Formats: sequence, structure tokens, C-alpha cells
Amino acid sequence: MSEITSPRQSVLVTSRAVIDSNIKDDIITLDWHMPASFSPQLYAISVGKTRFSHKMIRSSGVFVVNFMPFHLYNEVLYCGRHSGEFEDKFKESGLIKEEAEKIDCCKVKEAIAFLECEVISEIDSGDHTIFIGRVVKDGLKHDAKRVFHKSGDKFITTTD
Ligand SMILES: Cc1cc2nc3c(=O)[nH]c(=O)nc-3n(C[C@H](O)[C@H](O)[C@H](O)COP(=O)(O)O)c2cc1C
Repeated sequence: MSEITSPRQSVLVTSRAVIDSNIKDDIITLDWHMPASFSPQLYAISVGKTRFSHKMIRSSGVFVVNFMPFHLYNEVLYCGRHSGEFEDKFKESGLIKEEAEKIDCCKVKEAIAFLECEVISEIDSGDHTIFIGRVVKDGLKHDAKRVFHKSGDKFITTTD
């Protein structure tokens, strides 16, 4: 199916939760995400049930969608190939952590744009869960070419 649906814009979704009495911040790379409603403003993300981020988002009920510039595709790939269960992906990827404004969560400083979301519902979707988030704060910081995932390790961008 990926060959048919690609390329898709890759985003980084950040989360924060208390896991085993420790505050953890995590970053997951997602190709499966979409706007879901204008009013209220809703955004949907599809997260595999085995991902550490799934545990984090289910526990905290919040997440931030970070739209990334093309030149950071290596960092995007890194966050999609390692688990926050075993490492600090901010530290290892070199991406800079910022505090979200309206929710208790982290976000990525280098992002072009962001959506801070509170989970309002979940849909069980096979081996994934679709978390539907109400957008409580959005921001378009600057315009730049976005990162799109083609397949495997390959990323592309738009021509204008
Ligand atoms: C380009 C790319 C796109 C991905 N898209 C998704 C996705 O849409 N949903 C998902 O659950 N995992 C996706 N993944 C896999 C997760 O990013 C990966 O399993 C990650 O290591 C999970 O991190 P975590 O355990 O810290 O949550 C993608 C990976 C890559 C490289």
C-alpha cells in the first residue's frame, strides 16, 4: 500500500508523559496523519500500537505535530528508526527541544509549523490507533520546502 500512497509528508509528533515515575519526552516520525475537521479544528494521527509514543500519547492525552523542513530529512529518518523507550531522541538527533505553549508537552524548535493537540477520541484501526486531536494552538513560523517520504530511506520535496 505504501508504494501506492507515497510520497507522503513526514511529520514529527512529540509527546510527554510520566512513565515509571520519570518524565519522558519522545519524538516519532509519522507519514500517516491528516486534517480531520475545520470547526472544531481537529487533526488525526495514526500510531502503531507497539510504538513507545502510543503509550506516551495514551497516557498524557496530548501531542504536538511538527512539520519539518526538507534539509532535516536525516533527523526525520532517525526518529523513525529508533525508539524513545531506550534513548532520548532529542539528544541523539540533535533536534532542539522547546516547550509547547498551551499544553504540557515538548515540540521541535526547527519545525516550520506546528499543531498543539489534545486527544478528544481514539479509533481502533487494526495494528494502529488513530488519535484525533483538538488543535489548541497552531503556528506557521516560516515557509520552507517540506520533507516527503518516498520509500525506505528516500525523501523528496516539492519544486516550488
Ligand atoms: C518515514 C517514516 C514514516 C513513519 N510513519 C509512521 C506512521 O505513520 N505511524 C507509525 O506508527 N509509525 C511510523 N513510522 C515508524 C515509527 O516512526 C518508528 O517505529 C519509531 O521508531 C517509533 O518511535 P517510538 O517507539 O519512540 O514511538 C515511520 C517511520 C519512518 C522512517
